[in-house]
Amino acid sequence: MAELIGGYKRTKYCGDFRGTDEGAEVVAMGFVGKYRNLGNLIFIDVRDRSGIVQVSFDDSTAKEVFEKATTLRNEYVICIKGIVRSRGANINKNLPSGEIEIIASDLKILNEAEVTPFVISDDANVGDQTRLKYRYLDLRRPSLQNILMVRNKISKITRDYMDENGFLDIETPFLGKSTPEGARDYLVPSRVHPGEFYALPQSPQLFKQLLMIAGYDRYYQVARCFRDEDLRSNRQPEFSQIDFEMSFVENDIDVMEIAEGLICRIFNECLGHDLKVGGFRKLTYSDAMENYGSDKPDTRFDLKIINITDAVAGTDFAVFKSCIEGGGSVRGINAKGLASKLTRKQVDACGEFVKGYGIKGIAWIALKPEGTTSSFLKFMSEDEITAIYKAMDAQEGDLLLIIADKTQLALDSLGGLRRYIADTYNLYDKSSFDFLWVTDFPLLDYDEEEGRYCAVHHPFTSVKAEDIHLLDTDPSKARANAYDFVINGEEAGGGSIRIHDHKMQAKMFSLLGMTDEDIAERFGFFVDAFKYGAPPHGGLAFGLDRLVMLVTGTDNIKDVIAFPKVQNASCLMTDAPSIVDDKQLTELSLNIKK
Ligand code: AMO
Repeated sequence: MAELIGGYKRTKYCGDFRGTDEGAEVVAMGFVGKYRNLGNLIFIDVRDRSGIVQVSFDDSTAKEVFEKATTLRNEYVICIKGIVRSRGANINKNLPSGEIEIIASDLKILNEAEVTPFVISDDANVGDQTRLKYRYLDLRRPSLQNILMVRNKISKITRDYMDENGFLDIETPFLGKSTPEGARDYLVPSRVHPGEFYALPQSPQLFKQLLMIAGYDRYYQVARCFRDEDLRSNRQPEFSQIDFEMSFVENDIDVMEIAEGLICRIFNECLGHDLKVGGFRKLTYSDAMENYGSDKPDTRFDLKIINITDAVAGTDFAVFKSCIEGGGSVRGINAKGLASKLTRKQVDACGEFVKGYGIKGIAWIALKPEGTTSSFLKFMSEDEITAIYKAMDAQEGDLLLIIADKTQLALDSLGGLRRYIADTYNLYDKSSFDFLWVTDFPLLDYDEEEGRYCAVHHPFTSVKAEDIHLLDTDPSKARANAYDFVINGEEAGGGSIRIHDHKMQAKMFSLLGMTDEDIAERFGFFVDAFKYGAPPHGGLAFGLDRLVMLVTGTDNIKDVIAFPKVQNASCLMTDAPSIVDDKQLTELSLNIKK
Protein backbone atom coordinates (compact mmCIF):
# COMPACT_ATOMS: atom_id res chain seq x y z
CA MET A 1 0.00 0.00 0.00
CA ALA A 2 1.28 3.40 -0.92
CA GLU A 3 1.81 5.65 2.06
CA LEU A 4 0.98 9.35 2.15
CA ILE A 5 3.60 12.07 2.42
CA GLY A 6 1.90 12.84 5.70
CA GLY A 7 2.76 16.48 6.05
CA TYR A 8 6.50 16.11 5.38
CA LYS A 9 7.99 18.97 3.34
CA ARG A 10 11.05 18.40 1.21
CA THR A 11 14.08 20.33 2.56
CA LYS A 12 15.87 20.41 -0.79
CA TYR A 13 16.61 18.28 -3.84
CA CYS A 14 18.74 15.18 -3.22
CA GLY A 15 21.72 16.34 -5.26
CA ASP A 16 21.82 19.67 -3.45
CA PHE A 17 22.84 18.39 -0.01
CA ARG A 18 26.34 19.48 1.00
CA GLY A 19 28.80 19.27 3.88
CA THR A 20 27.33 22.53 5.22
CA ASP A 21 24.07 20.67 5.94
CA GLU A 22 25.78 18.49 8.54
CA GLY A 23 23.72 18.13 11.71
CA ALA A 24 20.47 19.36 10.14
CA GLU A 25 17.26 17.39 10.33
CA VAL A 26 16.08 17.10 6.72
CA VAL A 27 13.46 15.54 4.49
CA ALA A 28 14.35 14.16 1.05
CA MET A 29 12.12 12.55 -1.57
CA GLY A 30 12.91 10.63 -4.70
CA PHE A 31 13.41 7.27 -6.38
CA VAL A 32 15.51 4.46 -4.98
CA GLY A 33 18.61 4.30 -7.17
CA LYS A 34 20.85 1.70 -5.60
CA TYR A 35 20.31 -0.23 -2.41
CA ARG A 36 22.73 -2.35 -0.42
CA ASN A 37 21.66 -4.41 2.58
CA LEU A 38 24.64 -5.38 4.75
CA GLY A 39 22.52 -7.01 7.45
CA ASN A 40 22.74 -4.44 10.20
CA LEU A 41 23.31 -1.56 7.78
CA ILE A 42 21.30 -0.52 4.72
CA PHE A 43 22.52 2.05 2.19
CA ILE A 44 20.25 3.61 -0.37
CA ASP A 45 20.89 6.13 -3.12
CA VAL A 46 17.87 8.39 -3.37
CA ARG A 47 17.67 10.00 -6.78
CA ASP A 48 15.80 12.98 -8.19
CA ARG A 49 16.47 15.23 -11.16
CA SER A 50 19.23 17.07 -9.29
CA GLY A 51 21.29 13.98 -8.53
CA ILE A 52 21.55 11.54 -5.65
CA VAL A 53 22.06 11.51 -1.91
CA GLN A 54 23.07 8.51 0.17
CA VAL A 55 20.69 7.50 2.95
CA SER A 56 21.61 4.95 5.57
CA PHE A 57 19.69 2.95 8.10
CA ASP A 58 21.73 1.64 11.03
CA ASP A 59 21.30 0.52 14.63
CA SER A 60 20.23 4.05 15.57
CA THR A 61 17.22 3.63 13.27
CA ALA A 62 13.94 2.58 14.89
CA LYS A 63 13.31 -1.14 14.41
CA GLU A 64 10.09 -0.81 12.37
CA VAL A 65 11.72 1.80 10.08
CA PHE A 66 14.71 -0.49 9.55
CA GLU A 67 12.35 -3.39 8.79
CA LYS A 68 10.53 -1.27 6.25
CA ALA A 69 13.84 -0.31 4.66
CA THR A 70 14.62 -3.97 4.02
CA THR A 71 11.63 -4.09 1.66
CA LEU A 72 12.92 -1.25 -0.56
CA ARG A 73 13.74 -2.07 -4.15
CA ASN A 74 14.99 -0.10 -7.16
CA GLU A 75 12.72 2.74 -8.30
CA TYR A 76 10.49 2.67 -5.22
CA VAL A 77 9.33 6.22 -4.53
CA ILE A 78 10.22 7.23 -1.01
CA CYS A 79 10.28 10.02 1.51
CA ILE A 80 13.08 10.05 4.06
CA LYS A 81 13.47 12.03 7.26
CA GLY A 82 16.79 12.03 9.02
CA ILE A 83 19.91 13.82 10.18
CA VAL A 84 22.71 14.80 7.81
CA ARG A 85 25.99 13.28 8.90
CA SER A 86 29.52 13.59 7.54
CA ARG A 87 30.78 10.51 5.74
CA GLY A 88 34.13 11.05 7.39
CA ALA A 89 36.80 9.05 5.65
CA ASN A 90 34.27 7.54 3.25
CA ILE A 91 33.73 10.70 1.21
CA ASN A 92 32.62 10.03 -2.39
CA LYS A 93 34.48 12.62 -4.44
CA ASN A 94 32.53 11.74 -7.60
CA LEU A 95 29.28 12.92 -6.08
CA PRO A 96 28.47 16.58 -5.30
CA SER A 97 26.63 15.38 -2.17
CA GLY A 98 29.39 12.85 -1.48
CA GLU A 99 30.67 14.47 1.73
CA ILE A 100 27.53 13.56 3.63
CA GLU A 101 24.78 11.00 4.05
CA ILE A 102 21.37 11.12 5.71
CA ILE A 103 20.89 8.84 8.71
CA ALA A 104 17.21 7.96 8.37
CA SER A 105 14.86 8.28 11.30
CA ASP A 106 11.69 7.83 9.26
CA LEU A 107 10.83 6.31 5.89
CA LYS A 108 7.62 6.48 3.91
CA ILE A 109 7.17 4.27 0.89
CA LEU A 110 5.10 6.55 -1.32
CA ASN A 111 4.94 3.94 -4.06
CA GLU A 112 6.38 0.59 -4.95
CA ALA A 113 7.77 -0.23 -8.39
CA GLU A 114 7.86 -3.41 -10.41
CA VAL A 115 11.22 -4.52 -11.73
CA THR A 116 11.91 -2.06 -14.57
CA PRO A 117 12.61 -3.45 -18.07
CA PHE A 118 16.09 -1.96 -17.83
CA VAL A 119 18.26 -0.49 -15.13
CA ILE A 120 17.97 3.29 -14.86
CA SER A 121 21.56 4.16 -15.60
CA ASP A 122 23.50 5.94 -18.31
CA ASP A 123 25.77 2.91 -18.61
CA ALA A 124 23.03 0.31 -19.18
CA ASN A 125 23.33 -1.29 -22.58
CA VAL A 126 19.72 -1.09 -23.79
CA GLY A 127 18.36 -0.96 -27.36
CA ASP A 128 16.60 2.12 -28.67
CA GLN A 129 13.34 0.22 -29.17
CA THR A 130 13.06 -0.71 -25.49
CA ARG A 131 14.18 2.71 -24.31
CA LEU A 132 11.58 4.49 -26.42
CA LYS A 133 8.79 2.08 -25.53
CA TYR A 134 9.42 2.92 -21.87
CA ARG A 135 10.47 6.49 -22.54
CA TYR A 136 9.25 7.66 -19.11
CA LEU A 137 11.85 5.32 -17.57
CA ASP A 138 14.52 6.25 -20.09
CA LEU A 139 13.87 9.89 -19.21
CA ARG A 140 14.85 9.13 -15.61
CA ARG A 141 18.45 8.72 -16.78
CA PRO A 142 20.69 11.53 -15.50
CA SER A 143 22.11 12.32 -18.95
CA LEU A 144 18.67 12.83 -20.51
CA GLN A 145 17.49 14.84 -17.52
CA ASN A 146 20.55 17.01 -17.90
CA ILE A 147 19.87 17.58 -21.61
CA LEU A 148 16.26 18.57 -20.97
CA MET A 149 17.43 20.96 -18.27
CA VAL A 150 19.86 22.55 -20.74
CA ARG A 151 16.99 22.77 -23.22
CA ASN A 152 14.95 24.57 -20.60
CA LYS A 153 17.86 26.93 -19.99
CA ILE A 154 18.17 27.71 -23.69
CA SER A 155 14.42 28.43 -23.94
CA LYS A 156 14.64 30.68 -20.90
CA ILE A 157 17.67 32.56 -22.28
CA THR A 158 15.83 32.93 -25.57
CA ARG A 159 12.68 34.31 -24.00
CA ASP A 160 14.63 36.74 -21.83
CA TYR A 161 16.77 37.90 -24.73
CA MET A 162 13.89 38.35 -27.17
CA ASP A 163 11.85 40.17 -24.54
CA GLU A 164 14.77 42.51 -23.71
CA ASN A 165 15.05 43.30 -27.40
CA GLY A 166 11.40 44.24 -27.79
CA PHE A 167 10.10 41.05 -29.41
CA LEU A 168 6.55 40.05 -28.53
CA ASP A 169 5.76 36.39 -27.98
CA ILE A 170 2.67 35.77 -30.09
CA GLU A 171 1.22 32.35 -30.79
CA THR A 172 0.10 31.39 -34.27
CA PRO A 173 -2.34 28.62 -35.26
CA PHE A 174 -1.61 24.94 -35.60
CA LEU A 175 -4.76 24.35 -37.60
CA GLY A 176 -4.08 26.32 -40.73
CA LYS A 177 -3.53 26.25 -44.43
CA SER A 178 -0.58 24.66 -46.15
CA THR A 179 2.65 26.72 -45.67
CA PRO A 180 5.43 27.05 -48.18
CA GLU A 181 8.53 25.38 -46.70
CA GLY A 182 8.35 22.68 -49.29
CA ALA A 183 8.08 19.49 -47.24
CA ARG A 184 4.94 17.36 -47.24
CA ASP A 185 2.21 18.62 -44.91
CA TYR A 186 0.60 16.81 -42.02
CA LEU A 187 -3.12 17.13 -42.68
CA VAL A 188 -5.98 17.22 -40.21
CA PRO A 189 -9.43 16.38 -41.59
CA SER A 190 -12.24 18.75 -40.73
CA ARG A 191 -15.43 17.25 -39.28
CA VAL A 192 -17.45 20.39 -39.92
CA HIS A 193 -16.26 20.75 -43.51
CA PRO A 194 -16.38 17.27 -45.01
CA GLY A 195 -13.55 16.64 -47.43
CA GLU A 196 -11.57 19.66 -46.23
CA PHE A 197 -8.32 19.60 -44.31
CA TYR A 198 -6.23 21.79 -42.12
CA ALA A 199 -2.48 21.59 -42.58
CA LEU A 200 -0.25 21.67 -39.51
CA PRO A 201 2.29 24.48 -39.94
CA GLN A 202 5.71 23.63 -41.37
CA SER A 203 6.69 26.95 -39.80
CA PRO A 204 4.82 30.12 -38.77
CA GLN A 205 6.20 31.88 -41.86
CA LEU A 206 3.01 33.39 -43.25
CA PHE A 207 1.62 34.37 -39.87
CA LYS A 208 4.77 36.08 -38.72
CA GLN A 209 4.82 38.18 -41.88
CA LEU A 210 1.14 39.02 -41.35
CA LEU A 211 2.03 40.15 -37.81
CA MET A 212 4.49 42.61 -39.36
CA ILE A 213 1.76 43.90 -41.65
CA ALA A 214 -0.46 44.09 -38.55
CA GLY A 215 2.05 46.47 -36.98
CA TYR A 216 3.52 44.30 -34.20
CA ASP A 217 7.03 45.32 -35.32
CA ARG A 218 8.96 42.55 -33.57
CA TYR A 219 7.58 39.03 -33.05
CA TYR A 220 9.07 35.82 -31.76
CA GLN A 221 7.83 32.42 -30.79
CA VAL A 222 9.27 29.11 -29.69
CA ALA A 223 7.15 27.47 -32.33
CA ARG A 224 6.25 23.86 -33.01
CA CYS A 225 6.64 22.95 -36.68
CA PHE A 226 5.46 19.83 -38.48
CA ARG A 227 7.03 18.39 -41.60
CA ASP A 228 6.34 15.04 -43.17
CA GLU A 229 9.81 14.38 -44.56
CA ASP A 230 12.39 11.61 -44.41
CA LEU A 231 13.80 11.53 -40.93
CA ARG A 232 17.49 11.68 -40.13
CA SER A 233 19.56 11.95 -36.99
CA ASN A 234 18.96 15.72 -37.03
CA ARG A 235 15.33 15.74 -38.19
CA GLN A 236 12.04 15.04 -36.45
CA PRO A 237 8.54 15.27 -37.93
CA GLU A 238 7.63 17.73 -35.19
CA PHE A 239 10.34 20.03 -33.97
CA SER A 240 10.72 23.48 -32.48
CA GLN A 241 11.97 26.69 -33.96
CA ILE A 242 13.09 29.88 -32.30
CA ASP A 243 11.23 31.92 -34.84
CA PHE A 244 11.42 35.69 -35.15
CA GLU A 245 10.52 38.49 -37.51
CA MET A 246 11.25 42.23 -37.41
CA SER A 247 9.96 45.26 -39.27
CA PHE A 248 11.78 48.23 -40.78
CA VAL A 249 14.87 46.27 -41.64
CA GLU A 250 16.41 46.65 -45.02
CA ASN A 251 19.49 44.53 -45.13
CA ASP A 252 20.35 41.26 -43.56
CA ILE A 253 22.71 42.90 -41.06
CA ASP A 254 19.84 43.95 -38.77
CA VAL A 255 18.46 40.44 -38.55
CA MET A 256 21.93 38.91 -38.23
CA GLU A 257 22.75 41.19 -35.33
CA ILE A 258 19.73 39.99 -33.36
CA ALA A 259 20.45 36.36 -34.26
CA GLU A 260 24.12 36.69 -33.29
CA GLY A 261 23.16 38.28 -29.98
CA LEU A 262 21.04 35.25 -29.16
CA ILE A 263 23.74 32.78 -30.17
CA CYS A 264 26.27 34.67 -28.03
CA ARG A 265 23.96 34.57 -25.01
CA ILE A 266 23.23 30.85 -25.42
CA PHE A 267 26.81 29.70 -25.95
CA ASN A 268 28.36 32.13 -23.47
CA GLU A 269 25.90 31.25 -20.71
CA CYS A 270 25.66 27.51 -21.36
CA LEU A 271 29.23 26.71 -22.36
CA GLY A 272 31.29 29.63 -21.08
CA HIS A 273 32.26 30.81 -24.57
CA ASP A 274 33.31 34.39 -25.20
CA LEU A 275 31.41 35.06 -28.41
CA LYS A 276 30.71 38.63 -29.49
CA VAL A 277 28.13 40.10 -31.83
CA GLY A 278 29.86 40.98 -35.09
CA GLY A 279 32.50 38.32 -34.60
CA PHE A 280 31.00 35.67 -36.89
CA ARG A 281 32.48 34.76 -40.23
CA LYS A 282 30.48 35.08 -43.43
CA LEU A 283 30.85 32.94 -46.47
CA THR A 284 28.86 33.36 -49.65
CA TYR A 285 26.91 30.38 -50.90
CA SER A 286 29.04 30.19 -54.05
CA ASP A 287 32.30 30.23 -52.05
CA ALA A 288 30.90 27.61 -49.69
CA MET A 289 29.95 25.34 -52.59
CA GLU A 290 33.16 25.94 -54.53
CA ASN A 291 35.52 25.42 -51.58
CA TYR A 292 33.65 22.98 -49.39
CA GLY A 293 31.04 21.37 -51.64
CA SER A 294 28.28 22.23 -49.18
CA ASP A 295 25.99 25.11 -48.25
CA LYS A 296 26.61 24.20 -44.62
CA PRO A 297 30.31 23.50 -44.51
CA ASP A 298 32.14 22.35 -41.44
CA THR A 299 35.18 24.63 -41.48
CA ARG A 300 36.75 23.28 -38.30
CA PHE A 301 39.08 21.56 -40.74
CA ASP A 302 40.49 22.82 -44.01
CA LEU A 303 40.52 20.19 -46.77
CA LYS A 304 39.32 22.70 -49.35
CA ILE A 305 38.12 21.54 -52.73
CA ILE A 306 40.42 22.61 -55.56
CA ASN A 307 39.32 22.99 -59.15
CA ILE A 308 42.01 21.48 -61.41
CA THR A 309 39.97 21.44 -64.60
CA ASP A 310 42.28 24.02 -66.23
CA ALA A 311 45.41 22.19 -65.07
CA VAL A 312 44.35 19.00 -66.86
CA ALA A 313 42.42 20.64 -69.71
CA GLY A 314 44.59 19.22 -72.51
CA THR A 315 44.99 15.70 -71.16
CA ASP A 316 44.45 12.51 -73.15
CA PHE A 317 43.56 10.59 -69.98
CA ALA A 318 40.12 9.37 -71.04
CA VAL A 319 38.38 9.79 -67.67
CA PHE A 320 39.33 13.47 -67.35
CA LYS A 321 39.04 14.18 -71.08
CA SER A 322 35.52 12.88 -71.52
CA CYS A 323 34.39 14.56 -68.32
CA ILE A 324 35.68 17.96 -69.42
CA GLU A 325 34.31 17.53 -72.95
CA GLY A 326 30.95 16.67 -71.42
CA GLY A 327 30.89 19.98 -69.55
CA GLY A 328 31.94 18.51 -66.20
CA SER A 329 34.91 19.44 -64.08
CA VAL A 330 37.88 17.85 -62.38
CA ARG A 331 38.27 18.68 -58.71
CA GLY A 332 40.07 17.29 -55.76
CA ILE A 333 41.22 17.68 -52.22
CA ASN A 334 44.71 17.60 -50.84
CA ALA A 335 44.69 15.55 -47.68
CA LYS A 336 47.88 17.06 -46.32
CA GLY A 337 50.28 14.62 -44.74
CA LEU A 338 47.99 11.59 -45.13
CA ALA A 339 49.88 9.80 -47.95
CA SER A 340 51.59 7.35 -45.63
CA LYS A 341 48.89 7.34 -42.96
CA LEU A 342 46.25 5.75 -45.16
CA THR A 343 46.69 2.19 -46.35
CA ARG A 344 45.75 1.25 -49.90
CA LYS A 345 42.58 -0.28 -48.49
CA GLN A 346 41.70 2.97 -46.75
CA VAL A 347 42.23 4.93 -49.96
CA ASP A 348 39.94 2.46 -51.70
CA ALA A 349 37.40 3.06 -48.94
CA CYS A 350 37.40 6.75 -49.94
CA GLY A 351 36.48 5.59 -53.46
CA GLU A 352 33.72 3.41 -52.06
CA PHE A 353 32.47 6.35 -50.01
CA VAL A 354 32.00 8.61 -53.05
CA LYS A 355 30.25 5.82 -54.94
CA GLY A 356 27.38 6.52 -52.54
CA TYR A 357 26.96 9.81 -54.43
CA GLY A 358 26.81 8.08 -57.80
CA ILE A 359 30.48 8.75 -58.62
CA LYS A 360 32.20 5.96 -60.55
CA GLY A 361 35.47 6.19 -58.73
CA ILE A 362 38.26 8.28 -57.37
CA ALA A 363 41.66 9.13 -58.86
CA TRP A 364 44.42 9.37 -56.28
CA ILE A 365 48.07 10.22 -55.87
CA ALA A 366 50.00 9.36 -52.71
CA LEU A 367 53.23 11.36 -52.48
CA LYS A 368 54.99 9.07 -50.03
CA PRO A 369 58.61 9.82 -49.05
CA GLU A 370 59.68 6.43 -50.47
CA GLY A 371 58.05 7.13 -53.82
CA THR A 372 54.80 8.28 -55.37
CA THR A 373 52.00 5.81 -56.05
CA SER A 374 48.88 6.66 -57.98
CA SER A 375 45.83 5.20 -59.65
CA PHE A 376 46.28 7.24 -62.85
CA LEU A 377 49.60 9.12 -63.12
CA LYS A 378 50.84 6.66 -65.76
CA PHE A 379 48.29 8.18 -68.14
CA MET A 380 49.49 11.74 -67.58
CA SER A 381 52.37 13.71 -69.13
CA GLU A 382 55.12 15.23 -66.99
CA ASP A 383 53.72 18.71 -67.63
CA GLU A 384 50.22 17.67 -66.60
CA ILE A 385 51.54 16.10 -63.40
CA THR A 386 53.45 19.28 -62.59
CA ALA A 387 50.32 21.33 -63.28
CA ILE A 388 48.24 19.15 -60.93
CA TYR A 389 50.85 19.41 -58.17
CA LYS A 390 51.01 23.16 -58.60
CA ALA A 391 47.24 23.62 -58.57
CA MET A 392 46.87 21.42 -55.50
CA ASP A 393 49.93 22.76 -53.68
CA ALA A 394 51.13 19.15 -53.42
CA GLN A 395 54.15 18.34 -51.28
CA GLU A 396 55.81 15.18 -50.11
CA GLY A 397 53.51 13.37 -47.69
CA ASP A 398 50.27 14.59 -49.30
CA LEU A 399 47.43 12.43 -50.53
CA LEU A 400 45.54 13.91 -53.49
CA LEU A 401 42.01 12.66 -54.10
CA ILE A 402 40.45 13.66 -57.40
CA ILE A 403 37.00 13.35 -58.92
CA ALA A 404 35.99 14.03 -62.50
CA ASP A 405 32.25 14.32 -62.98
CA LYS A 406 29.36 16.72 -63.47
CA THR A 407 30.33 19.79 -61.47
CA GLN A 408 27.53 19.60 -58.92
CA LEU A 409 28.10 15.92 -58.32
CA ALA A 410 31.86 16.40 -58.01
CA LEU A 411 31.32 19.18 -55.46
CA ASP A 412 28.70 17.27 -53.46
CA SER A 413 30.76 14.12 -53.28
CA LEU A 414 34.00 15.92 -52.41
CA GLY A 415 32.06 17.88 -49.80
CA GLY A 416 31.03 14.55 -48.28
CA LEU A 417 34.51 13.08 -48.70
CA ARG A 418 36.22 15.93 -46.84
CA ARG A 419 33.89 15.34 -43.87
CA TYR A 420 34.43 11.59 -44.08
CA ILE A 421 38.22 11.95 -44.07
CA ALA A 422 38.26 14.56 -41.31
CA ASP A 423 35.99 12.43 -39.12
CA THR A 424 37.63 9.09 -39.84
CA TYR A 425 41.19 10.32 -39.36
CA ASN A 426 40.47 12.77 -36.52
CA LEU A 427 41.73 15.81 -38.35
CA TYR A 428 40.11 18.30 -35.97
CA ASP A 429 39.13 18.82 -32.38
CA LYS A 430 35.62 17.40 -32.18
CA SER A 431 34.82 19.41 -29.07
CA SER A 432 35.58 22.70 -30.83
CA PHE A 433 32.95 25.00 -32.31
CA ASP A 434 32.72 26.69 -35.65
CA PHE A 435 30.08 29.36 -36.30
CA LEU A 436 29.43 30.67 -39.76
CA TRP A 437 26.95 32.64 -41.82
CA VAL A 438 26.30 31.42 -45.32
CA THR A 439 24.89 34.30 -47.37
CA ASP A 440 23.83 35.17 -50.91
CA PHE A 441 21.95 31.97 -51.62
CA PRO A 442 20.48 31.63 -55.08
CA LEU A 443 16.87 32.75 -55.12
CA LEU A 444 15.65 29.97 -57.38
CA ASP A 445 16.54 26.47 -58.29
CA TYR A 446 15.44 24.89 -61.57
CA ASP A 447 13.54 21.66 -61.02
CA GLU A 448 14.23 19.49 -64.08
CA GLU A 449 11.48 17.01 -63.23
CA GLU A 450 8.78 19.62 -62.80
CA GLY A 451 10.22 21.84 -65.54
CA ARG A 452 9.96 24.99 -63.45
CA TYR A 453 11.80 27.11 -60.91
CA CYS A 454 11.42 26.44 -57.20
CA ALA A 455 12.24 28.81 -54.35
CA VAL A 456 15.48 27.81 -52.65
CA HIS A 457 14.22 29.15 -49.29
CA HIS A 458 10.54 30.03 -49.75
CA PRO A 459 8.57 32.20 -52.17
CA PHE A 460 8.60 35.26 -49.88
CA THR A 461 12.35 35.73 -49.95
CA SER A 462 13.49 38.95 -51.62
CA VAL A 463 16.05 39.18 -54.37
CA LYS A 464 19.22 41.23 -53.96
CA ALA A 465 18.62 44.74 -55.33
CA GLU A 466 21.54 44.42 -57.75
CA ASP A 467 20.12 41.16 -59.15
CA ILE A 468 16.52 42.26 -59.76
CA HIS A 469 17.22 42.66 -63.49
CA LEU A 470 18.21 38.98 -63.66
CA LEU A 471 14.63 37.95 -62.89
CA ASP A 472 13.79 38.86 -66.50
CA THR A 473 16.94 37.56 -68.13
CA ASP A 474 18.51 34.70 -66.15
CA PRO A 475 16.51 34.00 -62.96
CA SER A 476 18.75 31.12 -61.90
CA LYS A 477 21.62 33.58 -61.42
CA ALA A 478 19.66 35.90 -59.13
CA ARG A 479 20.82 35.89 -55.52
CA ALA A 480 18.48 36.12 -52.55
CA ASN A 481 18.66 38.21 -49.42
CA ALA A 482 18.82 34.93 -47.57
CA TYR A 483 21.22 33.63 -44.97
CA ASP A 484 21.75 30.44 -43.01
CA PHE A 485 23.53 30.12 -39.70
CA VAL A 486 25.80 27.10 -39.64
CA ILE A 487 27.39 25.54 -36.59
CA ASN A 488 29.87 22.69 -37.03
CA GLY A 489 28.49 21.84 -40.45
CA GLU A 490 24.91 21.78 -39.20
CA GLU A 491 22.23 24.18 -40.44
CA ALA A 492 21.24 25.75 -37.14
CA GLY A 493 19.01 28.44 -38.60
CA GLY A 494 17.90 30.21 -41.71
CA GLY A 495 16.10 33.35 -42.70
CA SER A 496 15.77 36.17 -45.16
CA ILE A 497 14.64 39.68 -45.91
CA ARG A 498 11.16 39.27 -47.35
CA ILE A 499 9.46 40.69 -50.34
CA HIS A 500 7.18 43.48 -49.10
CA ASP A 501 6.00 44.85 -52.42
CA HIS A 502 2.97 42.99 -53.71
CA LYS A 503 3.92 43.48 -57.36
CA MET A 504 7.28 41.85 -56.70
CA GLN A 505 5.51 39.06 -54.83
CA ALA A 506 3.24 38.48 -57.83
CA LYS A 507 6.31 38.36 -60.10
CA MET A 508 7.91 35.81 -57.82
CA PHE A 509 4.84 33.60 -57.89
CA SER A 510 4.71 33.73 -61.65
CA LEU A 511 8.41 32.81 -61.85
CA LEU A 512 7.52 29.79 -59.75
CA GLY A 513 5.03 28.81 -62.42
CA MET A 514 1.93 29.62 -60.38
CA THR A 515 -1.17 30.81 -62.17
CA ASP A 516 -3.36 33.60 -60.78
CA GLU A 517 -5.83 30.92 -59.70
CA ASP A 518 -3.11 28.97 -57.84
CA ILE A 519 -2.00 32.13 -56.07
CA ALA A 520 -5.54 33.12 -55.12
CA GLU A 521 -6.30 29.62 -53.91
CA ARG A 522 -3.15 29.07 -51.82
CA PHE A 523 -2.00 32.52 -50.76
CA GLY A 524 -4.86 34.89 -51.66
CA PHE A 525 -5.27 36.19 -48.09
CA PHE A 526 -1.53 36.74 -47.87
CA VAL A 527 -1.12 38.57 -51.17
CA ASP A 528 -4.11 40.79 -50.34
CA ALA A 529 -2.57 41.78 -47.01
CA PHE A 530 0.38 43.32 -48.81
CA LYS A 531 -1.93 45.82 -50.50
CA TYR A 532 -2.73 47.55 -47.20
CA GLY A 533 0.68 48.77 -46.13
CA ALA A 534 3.43 46.24 -45.49
CA PRO A 535 6.59 47.49 -43.78
CA PRO A 536 9.92 46.16 -45.02
CA HIS A 537 10.64 43.14 -42.86
CA GLY A 538 12.79 40.10 -42.39
CA GLY A 539 13.53 37.38 -39.91
CA LEU A 540 15.02 34.05 -39.17
CA ALA A 541 14.31 30.76 -37.43
CA PHE A 542 16.79 28.69 -35.47
CA GLY A 543 16.13 25.01 -35.00
CA LEU A 544 15.85 24.84 -31.20
CA ASP A 545 16.41 21.08 -31.14
CA ARG A 546 19.58 21.46 -33.19
CA LEU A 547 20.92 24.18 -30.91
CA VAL A 548 20.31 21.94 -27.91
CA MET A 549 22.10 19.09 -29.72
CA LEU A 550 25.11 21.31 -30.37
CA VAL A 551 25.24 22.70 -26.85
CA THR A 552 24.88 19.28 -25.21
CA GLY A 553 27.14 17.52 -27.70
CA THR A 554 24.73 14.82 -28.86
CA ASP A 555 24.40 13.81 -32.50
CA ASN A 556 20.96 12.28 -32.06
CA ILE A 557 17.97 14.62 -32.11
CA LYS A 558 15.93 12.08 -30.13
CA ASP A 559 18.11 12.85 -27.10
CA VAL A 560 16.90 16.45 -26.94
CA ILE A 561 13.17 15.80 -27.31
CA ALA A 562 11.24 14.33 -24.38
CA PHE A 563 8.94 12.18 -26.49
CA PRO A 564 10.46 11.78 -29.96
CA LYS A 565 9.38 9.77 -32.97
CA VAL A 566 11.43 7.02 -34.60
CA GLN A 567 12.59 6.69 -38.21
CA ASN A 568 9.16 5.78 -39.55
CA ALA A 569 7.59 8.73 -37.69
CA SER A 570 5.85 6.58 -35.12
CA CYS A 571 5.93 6.87 -31.34
CA LEU A 572 6.95 3.55 -29.81
CA MET A 573 5.48 4.47 -26.44
CA THR A 574 1.96 5.52 -27.45
CA ASP A 575 1.88 3.55 -30.72
CA ALA A 576 0.88 6.69 -32.63
CA PRO A 577 -0.18 6.84 -35.38
CA SER A 578 -2.97 4.32 -34.89
CA ILE A 579 -6.19 3.14 -36.43
CA VAL A 580 -9.27 5.05 -35.29
CA ASP A 581 -12.87 3.93 -34.79
CA ASP A 582 -15.16 3.67 -37.79
CA LYS A 583 -17.38 6.14 -35.96
CA GLN A 584 -14.62 8.75 -35.99
CA LEU A 585 -14.01 8.13 -39.68
CA THR A 586 -17.69 8.49 -40.43
CA GLU A 587 -17.82 11.75 -38.53
CA LEU A 588 -14.93 12.99 -40.62
CA SER A 589 -16.55 11.72 -43.84
CA LEU A 590 -13.49 9.57 -44.49
CA ASN A 591 -13.19 6.14 -46.07
CA ILE A 592 -9.91 4.26 -45.76
CA LYS A 593 -8.75 2.54 -48.94
CA LYS A 594 -7.74 -0.92 -47.83
P1 AMO B 1 13.87 26.48 -42.38
O1 AMO B 1 13.00 25.59 -43.15
O2 AMO B 1 15.28 26.68 -42.84
O3 AMO B 1 13.27 27.96 -42.33
O4 AMO B 1 13.90 26.01 -40.87
C1 AMO B 1 14.61 26.72 -39.88
C2 AMO B 1 15.47 25.79 -39.05
O5 AMO B 1 14.67 24.77 -38.47
C3 AMO B 1 15.47 23.59 -38.30
N1 AMO B 1 14.76 22.45 -38.93
C4 AMO B 1 14.55 21.26 -38.34
N2 AMO B 1 14.91 20.78 -37.15
C5 AMO B 1 14.55 19.53 -36.82
N3 AMO B 1 13.82 18.73 -37.61
C6 AMO B 1 13.40 19.16 -38.83
N4 AMO B 1 12.65 18.35 -39.58
C7 AMO B 1 13.78 20.48 -39.25
N5 AMO B 1 13.57 21.21 -40.35
C8 AMO B 1 14.16 22.41 -40.14
C9 AMO B 1 16.80 23.86 -38.96
C10 AMO B 1 16.50 25.03 -39.86
O6 AMO B 1 17.63 25.83 -40.07
N6 AMO B 1 10.21 29.92 -42.10
C11 AMO B 1 11.64 29.72 -42.34
C12 AMO B 1 12.50 30.63 -41.50
C13 AMO B 1 12.51 32.06 -41.96
O7 AMO B 1 12.67 32.28 -43.16
O8 AMO B 1 12.42 32.95 -41.09
C14 AMO B 1 11.98 28.27 -42.05
O9 AMO B 1 11.20 27.51 -41.52
O10 AMO B 1 17.71 24.22 -37.95
